[in-house]
Amino acid sequence: MAYAAFRSIGAYVPEKILTNDDLAKMVDTTDEWITKRTGIKERRISKKEETTSDMGTAAAKKAIERSGLDISEIDMLICATISPDYFCMPSTATIISNKLGLANVTSFDISAACTGFVYILSIAKAFIESGMKKNVLIVGAEKLSAITDYTDRGTCILFGDGAGAAIISATENKEEAIIDIHTGADGTFSDLLMTPNGGSGSIHDALDQEGAGCFMQMKGNETFKVAVRTLTKDVVEILEDNNIESSAIKHFIPHQANLRIIKAVGDALKMKDEQVVLTVAKYGNTSGASIPMAINDIYEQGKLKKGELMLLDAFGGGLTWGSALVPFSPLK
Ligand code: UT7
Repeated sequence: MAYAAFRSIGAYVPEKILTNDDLAKMVDTTDEWITKRTGIKERRISKKEETTSDMGTAAAKKAIERSGLDISEIDMLICATISPDYFCMPSTATIISNKLGLANVTSFDISAACTGFVYILSIAKAFIESGMKKNVLIVGAEKLSAITDYTDRGTCILFGDGAGAAIISATENKEEAIIDIHTGADGTFSDLLMTPNGGSGSIHDALDQEGAGCFMQMKGNETFKVAVRTLTKDVVEILEDNNIESSAIKHFIPHQANLRIIKAVGDALKMKDEQVVLTVAKYGNTSGASIPMAINDIYEQGKLKKGELMLLDAFGGGLTWGSALVPFSPLK
């Protein structure tokens, strides 16, 4: 049987920094409030002409280079994004595949908001284990600044831009395989986090400029409570199902939405500070890109070594959630 191994990671971080003090000049807020309630100090914002696919392509190039594979060996590309280059078509994955020079490779997007990376990891694993694909490039890429309302202080302080990518490959060695992935969703909470305009469910005419703006809206406090509950439950279940103690986790990599959420979940799971990976202060919430950007951060700091066990934990609009037990298994 083929197993799926997490071979490599890459990320792209835009140069421009938007600080809390910058935001305080745009909406009624303060650095103190944002820091205390979210742990975010700054976030990255892409250039006007820079698209989600540009960032995804840059992250993918690093992941491919670090995997040791030739680009011709990649046989599938999946992109997780809620801020695609174009809302209906073509998919951001097909644009990335063209920019990378991948020919005749199955490419598609999925929409699972901040859980997107865990969802595409599970899809890659399933395709590999079924024997249908061998080397899958997964990309989480977001230009959230394009769908953020910079007059709404409840959301604009949270989000940033960036991308992360990974190569998942077939292996016969069970020791290096992804151990398990859980994913779930509950549409009864769909109104907590949404982009209500621009789609067929919109009350506005799609061509009406007022209604065409596709900005995120969030019931922040309600989302916060469900996030803590769901993230904790999901991790408890995946650890129990696999008879793994939380102390065996080298890197706990939660979705980077809010430091208070991460701390509450980490405490409930009895994670030590050194196990918990944090990037929220410098990147804010980058939705589907947040987990691979965080993995890349520890990789580039030399903290992620071959064989070390990562626990990914995500939660987002939909509502969706997911967790994954993933050993880092580079070829070299
Ligand atoms: O990635 C997907 C999942 N997303 C999340 O998990 C995000 C979850 N939610 C959150 O992170 C938090 O709910 C927020 C950071 C968005 C808000 O923090 P909160 O502690 O839940 O605040 P709140 O919404 O209960 O608002 C408390 C007060 C309100 O004022 P009043 O009614 O008490 O006078 C808000 O109007 O804080 C006010 N407020 C602000 N004040 C200064 C809201 N946003 C701001 C702001 N600056 N930016």
